[in-house]
Amino acid sequence: MSTSILARVELAPRDPILGVTEAYNADPNPKKINLGVGVYYDDKGKVPVLECVRSAERLMLEHPSPRNYLPIDGLPAYDRAVRALVFGDARAIREERVLTVQALGGTGALKIGADFLRRINPGAQVWISDPSWENHRALFEGAGFQVNTYPYYATATRGLDGKAMLAGLAEIPARAIVVLHACCHNPTGVDIEPEQWARVIEIVKARELVPVLDIAYQGFADGLDADGAVVRQFAEACAPVFVANSFSKSFSLYGERIGALSVVTESTEEAARVLSQLKRVVRANYSNPPTHGGQIVATVLATPELRALWERELGEMRERIKSMRRALVESVQARAPKFDFSFVMRQRGLFSYSGLTKDQVGRLREGFSIYAIDSGRLCVPALNSGNVDYVADAIASVIR
Ligand code: LMR
Repeated sequence: MSTSILARVELAPRDPILGVTEAYNADPNPKKINLGVGVYYDDKGKVPVLECVRSAERLMLEHPSPRNYLPIDGLPAYDRAVRALVFGDARAIREERVLTVQALGGTGALKIGADFLRRINPGAQVWISDPSWENHRALFEGAGFQVNTYPYYATATRGLDGKAMLAGLAEIPARAIVVLHACCHNPTGVDIEPEQWARVIEIVKARELVPVLDIAYQGFADGLDADGAVVRQFAEACAPVFVANSFSKSFSLYGERIGALSVVTESTEEAARVLSQLKRVVRANYSNPPTHGGQIVATVLATPELRALWERELGEMRERIKSMRRALVESVQARAPKFDFSFVMRQRGLFSYSGLTKDQVGRLREGFSIYAIDSGRLCVPALNSGNVDYVADAIASVIR
């Protein structure tokens, strides 16, 4: 028997989302489809390189900048561009009390925030929606927090259980941390309505909760401004507010790991203190962020023609997802008329919370090489005109 410290290391389960991609990659079936991870594909099934990104890269090639270390908190032009995009001209921006730290995607932003919150508030607990993105729990538990859930989704109506959610939020202990999805809720695609957001903000204020807004899909529901509106409402109403945003999907820059954590504070002086501590967290984790993705996003957002091009391309992605929702619903209903799948049309963003059980998801995988998340979550933009009928056939067959 080995005495190595590794001898007793247990085999960890596969990641509930990225583990599905691993299984998909290992499948030799040429008809296989990955409806697991949240990635936008075009109608040919390819992850697009956006035109605005190509143009920015051309400019960057013409004017190459040295690859020195970036500042610990990232490229200043990028951080400024993120603040402008996410907060617009919110009062907190004009009062210079919002700070931004470039991060390794939305996940990296949440991780920096979670580690920082744990340092300054070790006694607090965290509340996430039921259900939530699988990694929310893992991230906050990994930072040392106990993670609880507040009610969110009602299976019976396949919509938001607004009453239960508000009642649940109102019972969270004062000053606890609450994670909220600003738009395109992951995994359900069911968002909080504007009037309900106003109530959520009241509760957050009254109980001095620490809101962590996750906005990884800005632009995929109704458009950049509409999807970001709730962030600006929070920034007007309270401080602190933590905002983790990502450009993985909206710029199709998954592998560049480009996102940011912003914090709304009470004053410029407080912002400086918080920033100094976030820099310590970053420095002890990965020192400072990589250059390429931040430069692309900063270039696009600061160049009016490229910014306009990006908004057009983002709009096209949004519309293609909506058309695939419609195609899937029509195609499933043609094959299983008794099954009302129309709720998929009401869901927003990349995902459809399909209602398929874990067993049905397993049958999609075994029988059809169609890979979905065990929760029944399907990535709608993995559908295209060439595969939607195959997927509908498979769904109709497992729900029968
Ligand atoms: C997803 O939910 O599929 C994406 O956010 C990718 C990820 O990191 O899980």
